[in-house]
Amino acid sequence: MPVITTVEDLRKIYQRRTPRMFYDYCESGSWTEQTFRDNVSDFSKLRLRQRVAVDMNNRSTRSTMIGEDVAMPVALAPVGLTGMQSADGEIKAAKAAEAFGVPFTLSTMSICSIEDVAEHTTRPFWMQVYTLKDDDFMRRLFDRAKAANCSAAVITVDLQLMGQRHKDVKNGLSAPPKLTPKSIANMATKVHWGLGMLGTKRRFFGNIVGHAKGVTDPSSLTTWTAEAFDQSLDWDRIRQFRAMWDGKLIIKGILDAEDAKQALNVGADAIIVSNHGGRQLDGAMSSIRMLPMIMDAVGDKIEVHLDSGIRSGQDVLKALALGAKGTYIGRAFVYGLGAMGQEGVTKALEVIHKELDLSMGLCGVQDVNALSRDNLYVPQGFEDPRVLL
Ligand code: GLV
Repeated sequence: MPVITTVEDLRKIYQRRTPRMFYDYCESGSWTEQTFRDNVSDFSKLRLRQRVAVDMNNRSTRSTMIGEDVAMPVALAPVGLTGMQSADGEIKAAKAAEAFGVPFTLSTMSICSIEDVAEHTTRPFWMQVYTLKDDDFMRRLFDRAKAANCSAAVITVDLQLMGQRHKDVKNGLSAPPKLTPKSIANMATKVHWGLGMLGTKRRFFGNIVGHAKGVTDPSSLTTWTAEAFDQSLDWDRIRQFRAMWDGKLIIKGILDAEDAKQALNVGADAIIVSNHGGRQLDGAMSSIRMLPMIMDAVGDKIEVHLDSGIRSGQDVLKALALGAKGTYIGRAFVYGLGAMGQEGVTKALEVIHKELDLSMGLCGVQDVNALSRDNLYVPQGFEDPRVLL
């Protein structure tokens, strides 16, 4: 067993063990991938303020997200095709999250269905919902989430259209993978992955196949999004979805202060500042640089969460210090999953927790909820998108 000390260690193992098509799906941004890169590099422009000789005993990373107790304010983000990264991947990730005490969010585009995940977990998970045209499908999706005891719905509002990720086009991404000489040759080298996949029935989009009407090729993400997603989505339609779900609601995909103000009118419990991990509008700002402006606009009225670019506990610390009440990891947990299944997801959470806990202490902070801008040096112009850093 290799010694794993960072999320990057997990990524390297994941890359070796997972078919190219699914590794590329995870590790891509749209077009030039500028926003995908900025999400990560902008975190490194924030510096931490070291303090010494303050009591660093009894540190706690415990907090709450939308009123739920969390071992640390880091949830697992919804990631499509997680069950293609490792057999039954969503179940494995949800179990790791449950054992660790952090929320798991199931993607609409998951391989394991809502019912599958509910059957294998006891802690209520969160259900991510895309904004589709088909009203019946939407109502049933919310009803299924309710029946599965999901404690929150996460509506993704930044994917009416899908940003192009060149590698997915070139690889012919699909679930299950289409068998071509190239994909067979690559998969043949991923023995552990292949045995896992042979041992499970869950190889299709579990929430879609048999549930969505009029989709001609449900194995293709691009076909499905082009046919089923509602390009005419507006805030009234989002309010209709609010009315279909009477539980906690999180709106995911806000990157602009004006949109954040609109989200307030929907009656959500939280928003997620996000650019979809740099997978949608390439050239958009990083999430972490947009967080301060969004906090100024709505931070006193609604819980603000952040995703996109978090690869370490120090990144979590920085987002919290800038005002986020919670954060999400997507790629960071997928690396762990592809590297070593459920154990790898646990490892990713442990690495991030340790980094958060120790760095917090070295900043002279005992309670994660006490983090503030006082713990950071923020470069001038960081919160102004017109400034090139
Ligand atoms: C889906 O949400 C994706 O980013 O592929």
